[in-house]
This record gives sequence, structure tokens and C-alpha cells, in this order.
Amino acid sequence: NVKESGSVAWQAPSNIALVKYWGKHGVQLPKNASVSFTLSHCCTKTKISFQKKNTPGFDFEVLLDGKREVGFEPKVLKFFERIEPYLPFLRQYRFTIETSNSFPHSSGIASSASGLSALALCLVDMERMMEGVDMTEAFFSKKASFLARLGSGSAARSIEGPLVLWGSHPGFEGSSDLFGIPYSFPVHDIFKNYRDTILLVDKGEKQVSSTIGHELMHEHPYANNRFEEANNNLNRLRTILEKGDLENFIRLIESEALQLHAMMMTSLPYYILMKPNTLQIIQRIWEFRKSTGSNLCFTLDAGANVHVLYPESEQEAVRAFIEADLVKFCKHGEYIHDKAGNGAKKL
Ligand code: PMV
Repeated sequence: NVKESGSVAWQAPSNIALVKYWGKHGVQLPKNASVSFTLSHCCTKTKISFQKKNTPGFDFEVLLDGKREVGFEPKVLKFFERIEPYLPFLRQYRFTIETSNSFPHSSGIASSASGLSALALCLVDMERMMEGVDMTEAFFSKKASFLARLGSGSAARSIEGPLVLWGSHPGFEGSSDLFGIPYSFPVHDIFKNYRDTILLVDKGEKQVSSTIGHELMHEHPYANNRFEEANNNLNRLRTILEKGDLENFIRLIESEALQLHAMMMTSLPYYILMKPNTLQIIQRIWEFRKSTGSNLCFTLDAGANVHVLYPESEQEAVRAFIEADLVKFCKHGEYIHDKAGNGAKKL
């Protein structure tokens, strides 16, 4: 039972989309379904301490790495307002939210997916402690994903792992626009423990917030083609994952990344989120693949950083190549070796 006071803590991972989510409608509903690898090392740890109170409003403070971070508080307030219909006890408690990321702050790695999923998990876990509340594990995960989605769409994919599907899609039973579900179709062993090295090309503030980015898809001349292409790619990916077809995996993953950026380049206003070093890295990845037959490939988020994806069996060769040829294009030589992971953990 939730008493007068207590605490709960969760660790939640970041994720990297293979088929991208770009464009939404209604209350954080995706225009197309997306699939991502859940990451392992890039994560947020969040602890909420709660204390019963009698005042009517929301009452919380946010601490990042032990220090009060007022900059996060408007975002959390908006999140609380959105999720209150599903967690009606929120106003009855005063919360202290202590959070920290495993990756450097403002590294350009989206902390919103891991941050909002960690917070959602803490709050549903708190609900689960309440008298008379009974939840199966499956319902718990769906509700956490549902709430995380209301904070940041891609956060819906940061509860479980190693592959998560978010968005209703024909032929994918159980898929929903409301929450992410573990990808439950056959996956070839080559995709187990898949590696992702994140090259930190540009660590500055985001040029375009994803909220604005998604909005740009409303009046976008190519939006409908893009949504159709994402749907086709999802169907193709299903076969690729089952067969272990690395050649087509590479084509699909890189094409998805470039389509995402092409959408930003062709919106009004238009943006180029890649930096010269992003292109240098892509060029070298292509050359390396051509000269060695390696199966590494790249993907991108809505920014300049490059995610280098490769099978576990190629780790040694790819990492040697990264050290020798790619690290020089990273800001301060910074990069993160990560891999597909199994999802959030209670602390
Ligand atoms: O979760 P949001 O609203 O920040 O959207 C992020 C979307 C991308 O990261 C660019 C792609 C994706 O599917 O994760």
C-alpha cells in the first residue's frame, strides 16, 4: 500500500529507431508505426520520493545529478497535466524527482525517451502499490508505455526490448498507436545483441525541437508518400529480421535515416540537421563497407550524431575502424559503445 510517504526508482533505456516515427496527430498518436532497438548503456535512472499533502495543486521538484533543475519543471508539469486523467492521485502527493543520465548531458542524445519512460515507470509502479490496485506485468508495461508516449512519442518504445514496435500496423497483431509492444515475430540470431556505437558529432542544443519537427509534417508536400514508405519498410523489415538478410537490412536502415532528414530538408521552414562531419562519417562507412565487406551501417536521429550499427560478430573489426577513422570527426573525440538491451529495470 502506498503510505503517507515512500519512494520508487527505475532505470529506463534510450532507443534507436530502425523505421522512424516522424509525424503525429491527435494526442501523440503516430502517423506511421515504427520499430526500434532498445539500448543498453544509454539510460536514465530516476527516483521519485513522495509525501502525502493537502494542498490542491501539483507539487514537485526535479533534481538532475543531485542539483535542482528548474529548466525541466515546465516539461514535467505539462506531463503531469496530460497524464492526470490516468493517474488521479498525482495532486495528493508532493514529489521529489531525482534523475541522472548515463550519457553526458546535452550530448545530443535524446534523453526524453529514457527520461520520460523512467518517470512513467516510477508513477505506474507507485499506482501499483495502492490499495485495491491489481495489475498484471503485461498491463503494467503497457500502461507505462502509454503514459511515456504522452510525454514523448518515442519514449513509448523505451520500456521493453530488445526490439519494440509502436503504432498500429496491419498484420502486426497487438500493435497499437497507444503504446509500444515487444516485437514478437521471428528474429534471426544475427540481430541478437546488435551493436550501436553512437558518434557524438555535435553536442549543441537541438536546432529544431521534435515537437516542431513533427508539426512540419502537417503541411508537408511529401508527407503521405513518407508514411506509405514507412509502412512498406516495416513490412520489408519483418522479412529481413526473420531471414537475417543483412544486405537489405543495411539498405533499409540507411534509407530510413536519410528519408527522415529528407523530410526536414523539404519542409517549410527547411532544416539541414547533418553537419559536415556527419557526411564525412557516412562517406567513410560506405568506403569501409565496400573495401572490407563489413556489414556496418549508419542511422540518424533528428540531429547530427551518427549511430553505427553492426552485428556482435563484427565488433572487433568495426571498433578498430571507428577508432582509426571515425573518432576524429566526433566533437572532443566522444562516442559511446552500446548494444541492444532488454528494457527498463526496477532499482
Ligand atoms: O519522441 P519524439 O517526439 O522526440 O520524436 C523523435 C523522433 C525520432 O527520434 C526522430 C525518430 C524516432 O522514431 O525515434
